Amino acid sequence: MGAPLRLGIAGLGTVGAAVLRLLAQNGDLLAERAGRAITVSAVSARHRGRDRGVDLQGFRWYDDPMALAADPEVDLVVELIGGADGPALALCQAALEAGKPVVTANKALLAHHGAALARLAEAHGVTIGFEAAVAGGIPIVKILREGLAGNRISRIYGILNGTCNHVLTTMRESGRDFDDVLAEAQRLGYAEADPSFDVDGIDAAHKLALLAALAFGCPPDFDSVYIEGIRHVSPLDIAFATEMGYRIKLLGVGRRTEHGLEQRVHPSMVRIGTPISQVEGVFNAVVAEGDQVGATLFAGRGAGGGPTASAVVADIADIARGASLPALGVPSSALQDLPPAPMERHYGAYYFRLMVVDQPGVLADVAACLREHEVSIESLIQRARNPLEPVPIVLTTHETFEAQMTGALARIAALPTVLEPPRMIRIETL
Ligand SMILES: NC(=O)c1ccc[n+]([C@@H]2O[C@H](COP(=O)([O-])OP(=O)(O)OC[C@H]3O[C@@H](n4cnc5c(N)ncnc54)[C@H](OP(=O)(O)O)[C@@H]3O)[C@@H](O)[C@H]2O)c1
Repeated sequence: MGAPLRLGIAGLGTVGAAVLRLLAQNGDLLAERAGRAITVSAVSARHRGRDRGVDLQGFRWYDDPMALAADPEVDLVVELIGGADGPALALCQAALEAGKPVVTANKALLAHHGAALARLAEAHGVTIGFEAAVAGGIPIVKILREGLAGNRISRIYGILNGTCNHVLTTMRESGRDFDDVLAEAQRLGYAEADPSFDVDGIDAAHKLALLAALAFGCPPDFDSVYIEGIRHVSPLDIAFATEMGYRIKLLGVGRRTEHGLEQRVHPSMVRIGTPISQVEGVFNAVVAEGDQVGATLFAGRGAGGGPTASAVVADIADIARGASLPALGVPSSALQDLPPAPMERHYGAYYFRLMVVDQPGVLADVAACLREHEVSIESLIQRARNPLEPVPIVLTTHETFEAQMTGALARIAALPTVLEPPRMIRIETL
């Protein structure tokens, strides 16, 4: 056995405490696998007196996490504070500059500063591991960087936020609306008190930017991700989706197109029966489509202390064994900027729902707007007749450019018989 690898852990919340628990429970097994013991020298968090359910005796305590980077008895810094900037960024920079590898679960940090941190790590001959930052316990970073290294990836997509998937699953199963289900999820601890990062798609977009970087060899480019959350998904749309053979999922999709790199997070309709449609509740899943392997799906728990600690410790074990892969799969000098594909050039099929006054001629007017923008109808559902009452009309289209679809919907929204803004959901062809 080699000399122990000594950790300094910053952040002792859900993930930090779970890492300490995992090391206490499975430390022997891990030492065998890594070929050396993994020990904790020092820790840091904000509130020293807080009960974290783990024994901190024997670890040096620092109020200031920056001290971990300077501590000569810390070989590797584990950053579990969170946040795209602030102390998390400063600590990672200081550790790398001191020639210490970093392991982090921080997707916001990597999505914004991933390329710069990868460059800094290389300049100091160390690496930065972020397995836990994408899809929690699913080892998708390793899969993309190592397992699928021989493949050209054409598309990568996934259910990247367990809170959203839980809310959408519960809405479908119970028929309840978004606000009601979200409030319950908050009470049960499945959603944060401030849920906006999750339900507005930001968290999934952070993860997508990292997946796209690994899949396509480009720097993470969070600012180019098109983002739409799930707040506007209604029980009515979920019921129509089921009737038409679809599930609604918040997907993150990265795809090479002739117009550039498409990165988008939005509610998507996926055919019932496809593997991704069966991923329910808090589970995450990622599908990578490689030119040699075809489509591969990886599913599991995307958050929570145990699954996230599992991924953090996998990175620690790799570093303990001496592995030092480029953080983003290729040396940072080989990362290629890919032009972002504008959303107007997205080519796909669409579902949309209108609430209209039930009177003769409405459908003909809608069809005329679609014809004007060269959008062709694939299917149509028109519900019970209640003369002069609002009724839903639901249509799906054949594949078309997004610009044509939005143009047609703008015209449709202006029709006097259309009572509410149209609801549009993209259909993902799998
Ligand atoms: N929770 C998950 O399921 C999950 C899953 C995947 C990835 N992640 C990522 O893992 C990271 C940590 O998440 P978490 O859920 O464990 O967060 P958390 O429970 O809020 O814990 C954050 C920890 O950081 C400490 N901290 C905050 N500011 C600090 C500062 N200035 N100096 C030192 N310590 C500071 C806090 O100290 P106090 O405890 O003393 O307040 C706390 O222990 C985030 O990047 C998150 O995105 C989380």
